[in-house]
Amino acid sequence: MASSPFSVLFAATLVVFTSSFLVPQLLAVKLPFHPRDVLPLLPRQVSWPVLNSLHSAADLLPSFVGSASSSNNTMEWKGACFYKNTAWVEFHNRTGSEFGGGTLHIKVSNAHSWTCMDIYLFATPYRVTWDYYFLSREHTLELGEWEGKAEYDYVRHKGVSIFLMQAGMLGTLRALWDVFPLFTNTGWGESSNIGFLKKHMGASFDERPKPWVTNISVNDIHSGDFLAISKIRGRWGGFETLEKWVTGSYAGHTAVFLKDSEGKLWVGESGNENEQGEDIIAVLPWEEWWEFEVNKDDSDPHIALLPLHPDMRAKFNETAAWEYARSMEGKPYGYHNLIFSWIDTIDKNYPPPLDAHVVASVMTIWDHIQPAYAANMWNEALNKRLGTQGLDLPDILVESEKRGLSFDKLLTIPEQDDWVYNDGKSASCVAFVLEMYKEAGLFDPISRSIEVTEFTIKDAYMLKFFESNSSRLPKWCNEGDNVELPFCQIKDYYRPPNC
Ligand SMILES: *[C@@H]1O[C@H](CO)[C@@H](O)[C@H](O)[C@H]1NC(C)=O
Ligand SMILES: *[C@@H]1O[C@H](CO)[C@@H](O)[C@H](O)[C@H]1NC(C)=O
Ligand SMILES: *[C@@H]1O[C@H](CO)[C@@H](O)[C@H](O)[C@H]1NC(C)=O
Ligand SMILES: *[C@@H]1O[C@H](CO)[C@@H](O)[C@H](O)[C@H]1NC(C)=O
Ligand SMILES: *[C@@H]1O[C@H](CO)[C@@H](O)[C@H](O)[C@H]1NC(C)=O
Repeated sequence: MASSPFSVLFAATLVVFTSSFLVPQLLAVKLPFHPRDVLPLLPRQVSWPVLNSLHSAADLLPSFVGSASSSNNTMEWKGACFYKNTAWVEFHNRTGSEFGGGTLHIKVSNAHSWTCMDIYLFATPYRVTWDYYFLSREHTLELGEWEGKAEYDYVRHKGVSIFLMQAGMLGTLRALWDVFPLFTNTGWGESSNIGFLKKHMGASFDERPKPWVTNISVNDIHSGDFLAISKIRGRWGGFETLEKWVTGSYAGHTAVFLKDSEGKLWVGESGNENEQGEDIIAVLPWEEWWEFEVNKDDSDPHIALLPLHPDMRAKFNETAAWEYARSMEGKPYGYHNLIFSWIDTIDKNYPPPLDAHVVASVMTIWDHIQPAYAANMWNEALNKRLGTQGLDLPDILVESEKRGLSFDKLLTIPEQDDWVYNDGKSASCVAFVLEMYKEAGLFDPISRSIEVTEFTIKDAYMLKFFESNSSRLPKWCNEGDNVELPFCQIKDYYRPPNC
């Protein structure tokens, strides 16, 4: 997948809420605090239930207080703790980069008690950060260099969106430090991703011997062979790391091989970036795809080939697979069902504290800063689940409550493969491959009862569809490596962990 800042930021926002690995220490204070004020000091496990009992679910959602832009246009609002607050953004060029960077100035005063604090989340479509304020004075928050012209223009015109968070969220937000570096496109970002996977998934990464890029022989590859891709660097790397963590998978992206009647090799991929920077479904000549992955993809993709098992290959209807691929070509990447296959996992055994409230919070923020994107990502899908049309998120919450359906129940209603969205049928990277398998007959005779849009990448590579006997792999496979793998790693230097 090429970099799509919005989905990555969605993931980053999710991170802000989901990681509570670092819980603030319980302070032994014996002062008559208001329970709301001490919440930030309590471990999350304690603060969360208290917070829930003090508020109704809707009150817990982050509230948008406004957008801060240039100093000529200072914004002012009332917080939960500090009643008088102002903020503005200073544009500067300290690093001498093309678009410069920014500093947020925020002045908080008139606290209603000396023990309270306000926690804020600051977001543009390109970054999410947060801070909390305890003392009446002017604070500054360094935003750093703008991502590029798009962010610079966005902040100039629309400003940085500011959300007031419930004080009990502090423990959750603190963990941001653990995951924020995941999104940096540097060697440091890469080691953060690996560190995160080691720490939270118990994954081990061993360097494998060269060659790190395999010279594959096209004759040994067949239609339906599966590509498992793992990006460990940059934005997509961070996004994938999270996806891996949430879904328990070791690969974050997938694609599939197809051969045409002349024996020419192609790669079908949902999530390929076109020239306009949109992620779409594409069928590309192998040489072109490979050239990009080897020389141009800055996310440092690790790529493995999982050949179909010979019995499956015999079953694979190439004509039907091509018909499916051609019918999907050019359609947008399936954000609609990406989120819902995650949520299905979340419902079963999500990493705490991810819960329906957290999901609703993330959606609230995104509804605000990228309304069109939010509608694309989940509003339409939620409407489908309710059998309604065109409701926005607050109306969806109301409607679902009216029917006695809690929001978390609504989220877990399964996606149907035949749902058609306003931009067509939706297929995430793995849904695209599996739907092709379904059309090609691999799920026969039970294909009618399979909803592939509910599969995660891990569900896919665990299918008993692939070669299980390493002695039947092509001879160029894992050349020079003494560890026997049941698949071919064709690019890069770490062996996939624990598979
Ligand atoms: C503020 O307003 C003045 C006068 O209207 C203008 O010259 C200046 O460029 C503005 N500054 C910013 C940061 O927009
Ligand atoms: C920042 O400084 C660099 C180098 O002096 C210059 O090329 C660039 O245009 C400046 N950017 C802005 C936004 O002023
Ligand atoms: C890859 O293999 C082909 C044929 O097996 C050979 O002609 C070519 O030189 C090899 N390329 C590299 C970079 O080793
Ligand atoms: C393969 O798929 C095509 C197109 O869907 C169909 O016409 C053909 O009968 C199928 N072949 C087999 C062997 O099922
Ligand atoms: C693996 O494949 C080889 C060569 O086809 C065969 O001799 C061997 O029995 C197979 N092993 C298993 C466990 O099926």
